[in-house]
Amino acid sequence: MTTSQIHYGGDYNPEQWPRDVWEEDYAAFDLAAIDTVTIGVFAWAHVQPAEDVYDFTMLDAIVQRAVEGGRKIVLATPTGAMPPWLAHEYPEVNRTDFQGRRHVYGQRHNHCPNAPAYQRLSAELADRIAARYTGTPGLIAWHVANEYGGPDGSCYCDHCAAAFRVWLRGRYRDLDELNEAWNTMFWSHLFTDWEQIVPPNALSEHWRGPNHTAFQGITLDYRRFMSDALLANFVSEKERIRRHDAATPVTTNFMGPFRPIDYHRWAPHLDLATWDNYPPGQREEVRMAFSHDLMRGLKDGAPFWVMEQTPTITASRDVNPVKRPGVLGLWSWQAIAHGADGVLYFQMRQSRGACEKYHGAVLDHAGRTDTRAFKEIAYLGHQLQELGDAVLGARVPARTAVIFDWDSWWTTEMTDGFNRHVSYLGVVLGYYGALWRANAAVDVVPCTADLSGYDIVIAPALHVVKGDIADRLRAVVERGGTVVTSFWAGRADESARAFLMDAPGPFGDLFGVRVEETDSAPPGEANTVTLALRGDPTPSAASLVFEILEPEGAEVIGTYQQDFYAGRAAVTRRRAGAGEAWYVGTDLDPNGLDTIVRTVLERHQLLGPHADNPDLEVVDREGMNGTYRFLLDHAAATVEIQHISPPPNPDFTDETSHP
Ligand code: GLA
Ligand code: ZN
Repeated sequence: MTTSQIHYGGDYNPEQWPRDVWEEDYAAFDLAAIDTVTIGVFAWAHVQPAEDVYDFTMLDAIVQRAVEGGRKIVLATPTGAMPPWLAHEYPEVNRTDFQGRRHVYGQRHNHCPNAPAYQRLSAELADRIAARYTGTPGLIAWHVANEYGGPDGSCYCDHCAAAFRVWLRGRYRDLDELNEAWNTMFWSHLFTDWEQIVPPNALSEHWRGPNHTAFQGITLDYRRFMSDALLANFVSEKERIRRHDAATPVTTNFMGPFRPIDYHRWAPHLDLATWDNYPPGQREEVRMAFSHDLMRGLKDGAPFWVMEQTPTITASRDVNPVKRPGVLGLWSWQAIAHGADGVLYFQMRQSRGACEKYHGAVLDHAGRTDTRAFKEIAYLGHQLQELGDAVLGARVPARTAVIFDWDSWWTTEMTDGFNRHVSYLGVVLGYYGALWRANAAVDVVPCTADLSGYDIVIAPALHVVKGDIADRLRAVVERGGTVVTSFWAGRADESARAFLMDAPGPFGDLFGVRVEETDSAPPGEANTVTLALRGDPTPSAASLVFEILEPEGAEVIGTYQQDFYAGRAAVTRRRAGAGEAWYVGTDLDPNGLDTIVRTVLERHQLLGPHADNPDLEVVDREGMNGTYRFLLDHAAATVEIQHISPPPNPDFTDETSHP
């Protein structure tokens, strides 16, 4: 078995079935060229059956069998699911939910990050596991806990309240500064003692759920604090692992664009970014591509892994369709094209009981290896074996960046006024989709990223202005690059306070525009915007938010056609030297976004290959031995290509198509 190849395998929980089945498992892994197993994710209860009892019999046997089988091993610390004794002896480890209800034992991914018992026992367990298994042959990564976050990623207990106050004292010099940041003069909220501050939930600042808060500043800080609190759990386990193992990468599996946790705050603490790819629908190629690029962006473009995907169906949705023939391969190659060095499954064999018993697996309950699904899994396994180490470590070179910002995500979606139907992720995906259709290579980066290597920076709805982002965007334009932003940009500071100036606030000079009024409409009602670009003026549908723009140095590119602001500017472009700054004041349909994005790409000669074929995705990975071009056909029908354009340095070409 090649040891140096794309990691292929996945979550393996053989503690759930008898030993003789393990042998069937490994025989099937051989058939499918599966070289990697992720072990121990849910092992807490059998590894530590009581606080002072550790029993490694089962885990030793599982690890031993994997070693004998010559597999690469991803070893988990089992702290994502707590054992009953822990919750019973230390009720504090159970979360208090948004409604203020202290939970009792059940489910998983639901510990209170600030519970001293969880902090102590999870770190000790990580320590013991690292002490025991460091140096295991084939160990390629440590997988800490599992999918940090849980239902809304938050706990609201007294431990969390106390820890929040400590976090706030680190952030603000004194209560005056905090009151100023939260604008507490509004509704008589001046805090005069730190103890008066409580977590924002249904019992305090919120109504109608987590998105409706009386004080965005408080809720925004609580989200940051919670993200940091969960991160502290990860970091403390990682530190314990590092006492024994100085080198093996430590990761935890993320969930792509997962709102509750700001993965950009976590990224510096990971050695390797990994994520679980469970797209909500059948045609999610844009969302998946975006998620891959977002995850790749966490470690400055270094390869990431897909830690989990289902080989067939998920179990958690109301309707769980199977992956159509070829889709498993297509989506796996898409991940690899976007920079994945591992494509792993949840799970290797179906569990017999509980809520995921019908979730897809490499092996079904009958353990068959003659099913369509298994054959596709094995086919992919052999393809990867053949590919060997060719693309390992290869980068995805991009001259276009999309800025994604959790603070803007949180703030736009918890802010009253304007329009509650706007999804920040949806807006970003709109622009990303236009880039994707044009086969442009894109990095998805935080607003703190170094922007100096990009010709184009698209920052949709960059609502919260942090640090020197305005200057760094200006620098892109000054050196001849193009910056694009959209409605709601530049409206709020780091504490979600409005700027005492016209929108788009500190971005106003750069874009040469001011927002005079902001109109909104419910979904389904549209205005029309005519764009004077690419020859004839193109009409495109605009919806949800309509900023009436007043150019102040910018030229008008698009105008509204209806309502009292017919004829007023909807889209503007400010030219400054060789650079351009575009402002799009409304939510344009894909047509309109394609027109704008392609105009910008063409200006920098960054329109990708086969950009006129909307179902054909083309991605290049650039490695030591050359550039590899991936052609991914997302259509159910065959795509005809007259001429396959070669990558810049064509040493290897792989074609994957979905029949
Ligand atoms: C997540 C979890 C897994 C499993 C899968 C099912 O990704 O990490 O344990 O529950 O979902 O889709
Ligand atoms: Zn708590």
